[in-house]
Amino acid sequence: MKTLPKTRLAATLTFAFAFAWTANLPNFAQAPAAAVAAKVPSLDEYRKYALTHEGDVSRGAKLYADDQKLACVKCHSINGQANKAGPDLFAVGDKFGRRDLVDAMLAPSATISPGYGATLVETKAGEEYQGVLKQVTDTGIQLMGADGKLVSVAKSDIKQQRGSTVSLMPEGMQAGLSLQEFTDLTEYLTTLRQPENTLVSNHGMPLLIPQLARPVTARPFFTQELRVPHSKAQTGLTAFYQVPDFRNLFLVLNQEGMIWMIRKTVTGEEKTVFADLTEEVFCERGPNGLLGLTFHPKFRENRKYYVKHQIFEEGTVATIIIEKQFTPDFTQDSGSPPRRLLKIQSVAEDHGGGCLQFGPDGFLYFGMGDTGPHNDPNGHAQNLQLLLGKMMRIDVDHTDDGKGYAIPTDNPFRGRTDAKPEIWAYGFREPWRFSFDRVTGDLWLADVGQDRVEEVNIVRRGANYGWNVYEGFEPFSNQYRKEGRNFVPPVFAYRRKYGNSITGGYVYRGDKQSSFYGVYLCGDYTSKRIFGLTQENGALKSIRQIGSIPQGLVSFGTDEAGNIYAVGFEGMIYQLDFTESRFDEIKPD
Ligand code: HEC
Repeated sequence: MKTLPKTRLAATLTFAFAFAWTANLPNFAQAPAAAVAAKVPSLDEYRKYALTHEGDVSRGAKLYADDQKLACVKCHSINGQANKAGPDLFAVGDKFGRRDLVDAMLAPSATISPGYGATLVETKAGEEYQGVLKQVTDTGIQLMGADGKLVSVAKSDIKQQRGSTVSLMPEGMQAGLSLQEFTDLTEYLTTLRQPENTLVSNHGMPLLIPQLARPVTARPFFTQELRVPHSKAQTGLTAFYQVPDFRNLFLVLNQEGMIWMIRKTVTGEEKTVFADLTEEVFCERGPNGLLGLTFHPKFRENRKYYVKHQIFEEGTVATIIIEKQFTPDFTQDSGSPPRRLLKIQSVAEDHGGGCLQFGPDGFLYFGMGDTGPHNDPNGHAQNLQLLLGKMMRIDVDHTDDGKGYAIPTDNPFRGRTDAKPEIWAYGFREPWRFSFDRVTGDLWLADVGQDRVEEVNIVRRGANYGWNVYEGFEPFSNQYRKEGRNFVPPVFAYRRKYGNSITGGYVYRGDKQSSFYGVYLCGDYTSKRIFGLTQENGALKSIRQIGSIPQGLVSFGTDEAGNIYAVGFEGMIYQLDFTESRFDEIKPD
């Protein structure tokens, strides 16, 4: 359990926020004091009661809507519109189990919903603002405060702007509720489910995803958890790789910037520090940090590898790709200064992509998300003059004038004045993980959705995958729809019932006799489910829930033999064991 910032209310009140939200909202700022006097139950008592008692849904709904007693409706909508300061709660009962719902209310800052963290701004005139970032342009920003009002601040007026690790959602909201009332409210939230009939019905987004009769087993691959004491809250592992040509040698990345080398032995494993990038890596908030690594196709000869991470430079967050090298004995990073290939500025701090991989053509592919804020209000993903919301493809072995790399001659937008030549495909929101099928060469990508669906794409040269005109198969916004642009629909999309944040995996190419041979595997970070699917001409052929892991499913890994691993954010690496399962054997309803 993470420690909670105990002085949250006090801290918030020390800022003389122009929003003066306490004036507009019911008096929960004073609630803790009153609470002490009236012996209001402790957080633990609320938690325990709500987890062991049933609540009354209709009483809970009334409490939720009562803006005299609680302020939920000031910050949350439940109609899927997501236009308030907090996340829309229309599918929060899909997103969270009871325990997580209770924690979201009792300890808002313990886990902050990505994209909904608070930003603090101080102007040169000495005003201070706090709110959720809704718009960022060249000239200014817009914040939505706890009172639901949008405030615009000109860039030229900003003295300091920083993200906060404290949620805009106040602590102590339960203090005015009895144990039973809190439980009623919880019960009501559990009933908020994504309505099935509001989504476009599509073959690629089935209502029901069948489960395997015998799920795939996830076995711990190392004897130890790899989590180390963290200096910052809410960080974990991000990726896992086998070092090419060394079957027992693995690298594990954590978000803060540590790369560990793990040598698997007959009896266990030896863990050493391969490289420590914690000084350079920015990972204060959200899905930022050390996110991905890949090895040069001629790694055995040149020992080169590439890393993608966020930095904080010249007052802003940016994503960089650097080239580094192993020592000649392949036991450590060489320690020589890295070569920076490129830097991409973030707009907000969200969606920096995470993955980089060499294609079968020897070129380096990497993804960048729209970098936020929510809704991609500036249309980054559809704007071909930006490297945001795109897949890129570059040649790291040659350099063009003024660049740390070259543009392959057959890149789709090369030679055009209205587009960046690095772009390979576009229309992505957050292409967190992708991979190449080692047999067919197909590029499979999982794009993290916003409020409604998660999607899987097969990425082809120059194609447009829709964001923010589409989210999955769903129309999203016409603001950046352009005449004559075609959109390639996903192969597969799933709704909130199955998860909230997709993690792309690999096409299984291990045992040729296995019924999973050729099946693409992906999963969901929050629901921890693993899916297996096949496609034909870009259309979904079969889809299954094949298993799950006990931890947040942040990445998949693979090795030369074609085994598949799942990386648990909280520190475990699991190897998937397919031997007892069959892809064609579904659990009867
Ligand atoms: C002052 C604004 C504000 C008020 C009032 C507020 N919330 Fe929130 N809430 C937020 C913000 C901002 C977040 C996202 C950041 C976070 O995860 O803490 C959030 C997150 C949540 C989440 C997690 C949702 C998700 O998708 O991750 C739940 C559940 C929630 N609030 C329920 C409630 C309930 C119930 C109430 C009323 C008792 C309430 N909130 C009152 C601002 C508010």
